[in-house]
Parts: sequence; structure tokens; C-alpha cells
Amino acid sequence: MGVMSISHSSSLLIGVPQNNGARRRSNVVVYCQGGGGNNVIKSSSGMSSMLSSLVSTDHAATLMDAGSLVLSQNGKNQAEIVVKDLVPYGGQTSTTLIGLENGIGIVNFLRGKKLFITGATGFLAKVLIEKILRTETDVGKIYLLIKAKNKQAAMERLQNEIINTELFKCLQQVHGKSYQAFMMSKLVPVVGNVCESNLGLDEGITNVIAEEVDVIVNSAANTTFDERYDTAININTRGPCRLMAIAKKCKKLKLFLHVSTAYVNGQRQGRIMERPFSIGDCIARENFISEAPKYLPTLDIEGEINLVSNYKGNIEDNLLAQKMKEMGLERARRYGWQDTYVFTKAMGEMMIDKLRGDIPVVVIRPSVIESTFSEPFPGWMEGNRMMDPIVLCYGKGQLTGFLVDPHGVLDVVPADMVVNATLAAMARHGMTQKPDINVYQIASSVVNPLVFQDLARLLYEHYSSSPCIDSKGRPIQVPLMKLFSSTEEFSGHLWRDAIQKSGLIAMASSKGKMSQKLENMCRKSVEQAKYLANIYEPYTFYGGRFDNSNTQRLMECMSEEEKKEFGFDVKSIDWKDYITNVHIPGLRRHVMKGRGMKLATTTRRQVHGSVGAKQRPKETHTTPDMPWYNPTSGGKEGIILDLMVQWLRRHGKEEL
Ligand SMILES: NC(=O)c1ccc[n+]([C@@H]2O[C@H](COP(=O)([O-])OP(=O)(O)OC[C@H]3O[C@@H](n4cnc5c(N)ncnc54)[C@H](OP(=O)(O)O)[C@@H]3O)[C@@H](O)[C@H]2O)c1
Repeated sequence: MGVMSISHSSSLLIGVPQNNGARRRSNVVVYCQGGGGNNVIKSSSGMSSMLSSLVSTDHAATLMDAGSLVLSQNGKNQAEIVVKDLVPYGGQTSTTLIGLENGIGIVNFLRGKKLFITGATGFLAKVLIEKILRTETDVGKIYLLIKAKNKQAAMERLQNEIINTELFKCLQQVHGKSYQAFMMSKLVPVVGNVCESNLGLDEGITNVIAEEVDVIVNSAANTTFDERYDTAININTRGPCRLMAIAKKCKKLKLFLHVSTAYVNGQRQGRIMERPFSIGDCIARENFISEAPKYLPTLDIEGEINLVSNYKGNIEDNLLAQKMKEMGLERARRYGWQDTYVFTKAMGEMMIDKLRGDIPVVVIRPSVIESTFSEPFPGWMEGNRMMDPIVLCYGKGQLTGFLVDPHGVLDVVPADMVVNATLAAMARHGMTQKPDINVYQIASSVVNPLVFQDLARLLYEHYSSSPCIDSKGRPIQVPLMKLFSSTEEFSGHLWRDAIQKSGLIAMASSKGKMSQKLENMCRKSVEQAKYLANIYEPYTFYGGRFDNSNTQRLMECMSEEEKKEFGFDVKSIDWKDYITNVHIPGLRRHVMKGRGMKLATTTRRQVHGSVGAKQRPKETHTTPDMPWYNPTSGGKEGIILDLMVQWLRRHGKEEL
């Protein structure tokens, strides 16, 4: 089996440590409009006192480190976590962390380095690539793994999905006519697939990578919560194994940097530390310390891989997709994770630790990545993911409530801060090249928690001052979103809302037959909503808070200049400003691309202008969006039918 047959013998680490104190350049970062990075770091004093107050208050019992975490089986133990006693949104002051004079030397590290990046066409990796090229034009070649049928198709994807996109507009402005030549001198598309042996690389490029590459960045993933188990395990668990096999061939490799997710911590509760996983870890077992271990599940990754392969041979094709989906969720929950995505990512981390040998490894664990805070411009976003389908449906008047703990916390981080932390960690550990593994959680829930009921208020404030416009040009007024703590209450709300908005009762007398069909539609739609709420529930009732002490210490290693250029102080984020003036306007412009979402007013922080050249419309859903009904645009019944038919077809449900 590919996963287990990786050789440990070929690791040749002959990289020369970089001179940390080497010549430093003055400000090399080029900012686009609204950026400047000045707003990334504010100065203040609260962190150490806030942290000590966290561990000395009544809820200290829930803020334990991972060694003594308590798992609540339903993950709903919010009463124990007095979120409001943590730091509320807004009103944030920030840190007095003093930068070291010479800092980490991030720019120096990047100079001349050659990188191999997977997931290059994804949201996060593109922000990373853009920042590297804007920060250090003398970086060496960057090899980008791209799924494509041949070199020409990979080159087309490079052009259409990376080089010619709006995200790279600052670089286009900086390089002018030589932009294309500059990009082509740096970026090398490599045809491949993390699901294939040797990543599907041909011999020639394998040799080039083995000879030249200094840093490997693994950002490729399948991020769908309820993905088929076979698909998710192949990409998220076996993919890193295959990449590690390539890493072992690299003669100059200084670092293997893996992008994971903070939610690999599964159903852990309380304060969750930045600790690496090891083979055999199983979150379900952590909860039952008093029970005899023999009655608890033992996670055997090879066994899981075999389970998938064997099952596939024994099931009819037409049932396979659904069964694989169910199996992923069932296996994840059995072992203490909330869904297939985070479970297979956690197993990916375990395999990396098992296989790394003496290769230095950094694991970056961001929480929910949302639009850029300031660079290359505020509000850049791609894909409709995590909380965003809910935010957008709410703004369009399609969703007036959701299943969520009002006092719970949504852990959000802007994409540019994740990228900055990634580069800082890369330089720090790529320079020292110690053969260890370091984990960084890029997360806000401990140092600057965004509470759901505050988020709901911010959404309301945004859409009240900048409502969406319906097809007849009228502003869509939305009420404050109702937050429900139980599926029953949420379901009741959906029914009442569907009935009220569709006029179902009124139609029942005049068009009995049609209204029956409509009622069925509503029923199915409500069922869909409940299914999605069930998938979201582990996140909207999440009982863990992600500690980021390592990440804070990384920041302490940076010079003042680096903190300005590569800031990732999530504590400094003013959620009101970020959500209402940056993130939602960014979503409306870059994700919805203005469709039915015209901004009624201009926001204070300008979100970047027109849509760039030939961008592939990309449906990167973490979860699908939810068109229940659209009360605002004309004939009620037709709209409901249209939306539901579109929805069901798009997601492969039964024919109507
Ligand atoms: N977005 C978040 O909120 C978030 C939060 C925490 C952690 N993360 C982690 O951050 C990383 C990047 O996430 P993202 O948001 O940028 O994801 P994304 O936009 O969905 O991009 C995923 C990337 O992986 C590539 N990929 C998928 N399957 C592949 C395969 N078999 N072979 C090669 N490449 C493959 C995709 O290529 P195609 O374009 O060809 O599909 C795409 O480039 C992931 O590891 C994710 O787990 C994301």
C-alpha cells in the first residue's frame, strides 16, 4: 500500500543555514489601495494580563491544556465556557510585544529559495504566492502542482486562475508591461495530482524538484465537510504521505510546511493547545480516561484505508457515493471528530509525523479563513464557504434564522494574516532546520473571540445600512437573525417562515393540487436546511478555543518592520470594522460578483474594484448554499419552485 511503503532512507538535508543578520532591505512590500499594513498592528497592553485572567477565573476548568481536555459527547457544553468573560468583539486593544531588532529575516530567507506548492489554484495558496512575489522579487522559482490533463492545460490554468486574476492586480501595476515575463520567470506549472503515485509527476520534473526545491508547501485539500470517505482520505490523508515521499528525495529541502486546520482538534473542549498529533491519537479516547481502554475505539489509519478499499469492491455503484458519504461521517464521529474533512486532515497530520524522519516540519492550523484584512487589498475572497452561504442568504432575505449557540464563538482569521504567519514560520524553521515538528494555530477564539450573537448584530447592521437590491431594484430589508439552540425550534421557525412567505395556506383553498406540490417542496427544503444545520452544528456549538501561544511567540521573534510587513496579530482585529466594512462587502463584490447584490451605499473601507480578467467561476463550497425561498422577487410559487429545482439539481438530489 502506497501510504505505508514510503522509504525513510533517502533524506539528504544539506541546506546551509541563512545568515539571520544579513543585509536587510528597507520596506520591500508593495501595498495596493487601502493596505499599508498599518492597521494590522496596534499597540497596547492587554495580552498577558488577559491571558492570566483567563486561567485564573472560574471557568479555568474549561481552559485547560490538551493533556487534560474533557470531551463532551454532544459538543454542546457551552454553559461551561463563559464566552462573554473572554474578550468581547470591538473594544480590542492590542499587544506590546516588542520585536527583536533583526527579526526572523523573512525576506532574507525567501531570497533565492525555490518552493514547491500544492493547492496552488486554491484560495489560500494564491494569497501566499501573491505575497511572496510582492515581498521578494528575487525569490527563486515556485513550482505549482496543478491538476490538468497536460502541460498546456496546466499553463492555461496558471494564466486564467492565477496570473490574470484580480488578486494579482498590485503586482500587475508594479511590473507593468513586464508583468507576464516576471510571472513566467517565477511560476512553473507542474501537472500532477496528490491522489496519484509520485503525485503523477513525470520523471523529468521529479528530478528537477529533487535537485532544486528548498521548501515544500502542502495546501492541497478537499474541504467539503461531508465528502465521500474514499475521496477525502485519498486527498487529505494519503496526499500528504505521497508528498512526504517526494520530500525525502529533495536534496536541499529545508522545510516541509503543511497547511492543516485548527478543527483537526475535533470534539476537544476548552483551551486547545498547539500540539502535534502522533499515530494512534484518538480524540474519543481522551474523554474516557477512567474507562478501560479496550472498550474504546483505536484509530488505525491503515485499517481505515483498507476499510474503504474493501467496501468499494462490495457495493453496487449506484449506492456507493451515498454510502461513502455516510461512512465518512460515521467513522469521524466514532473516533471523536465532527466530520469527514477534519478527521481525514487529522489523519494526514498523524501520517506526516510518522513519516517525517529528520525532515523539519511546520504545521499551520488556521481556523476559518475569511477575506483579506488589508493585503493586497481588503476584502479579497474566493469561493462561498463556511459561514458565507449563511451571510449571503441572510442578506438576500432568504434566511431569517439559524441553528447556533448565541454565546458560542466563531473562530475566524483573515487570509492575509494566515499567509503572513505561514511565511514567518517558514523562515524561522527553514533557517534553523531542526528536525522537529512545530504547530501554529492561527486562530482568534482565545485572544479575540467573535461571539455569534454579536456577529448576528453586525450582519444586521451591515445589511440595514447597505441592503441588497432585489430584481425590481428595491432594497431588501432584513430582520435581526434569530438564533436557535435546538433543531426543533429551528425547524419550527423554518416552517413558519416558509408558510408565511410562500402564502402556502392562502393557496391551499384556490389551487389545492399545486399547493400540495408546493408543500412537498417546502418540506424537502426544510429537510435540506436541517441536514445542513446538522453538518454545521459541530461548528456553531463548538466547545473548544484554539490556543495560539506558539503563534504569539513567533510574532515576538519578528522585528518591528517585519510586524508591519507580515503582521498577524489577530488580537488587533476590530470585528465590527472587519465584518461590516471589509468581509461582507468583499463577499458581495468578489464572490457574488454583484449578482443581485448591488451595494446600496459605498462602504468606508473601499473594497477593490472591478472583476479581473478571465477568472474561472469557482464553486469551492465547504458547504452548499441554501436557497429555501426568495420572498422578494415576484411570483412566490414560481420562485420557490425555481430555486428548489435548481438547488436539488445542482446537488444531485431526486428529480422533481
Ligand atoms: N478555507 C478555509 O477556511 C480553511 C480553513 C482552515 C484550513 N484550511 C486549509 O487550507 C488549505 C487551503 O484551503 P483553501 O481554502 O485554499 O482550499 P481550496 O480553495 O478548496 O483549494 C484547494 C486546492 O487543493 C487542490 N486540490 C484538491 N484536490 C487535489 C488533488 N487531488 N491533487 C492536487 N490538488 C488538489 C485544488 O485544486 P483544483 O483547483 O484543481 O481543485 C485547490 O488548488 C487546505 O489544506 C485547507 O484544509 C482552509
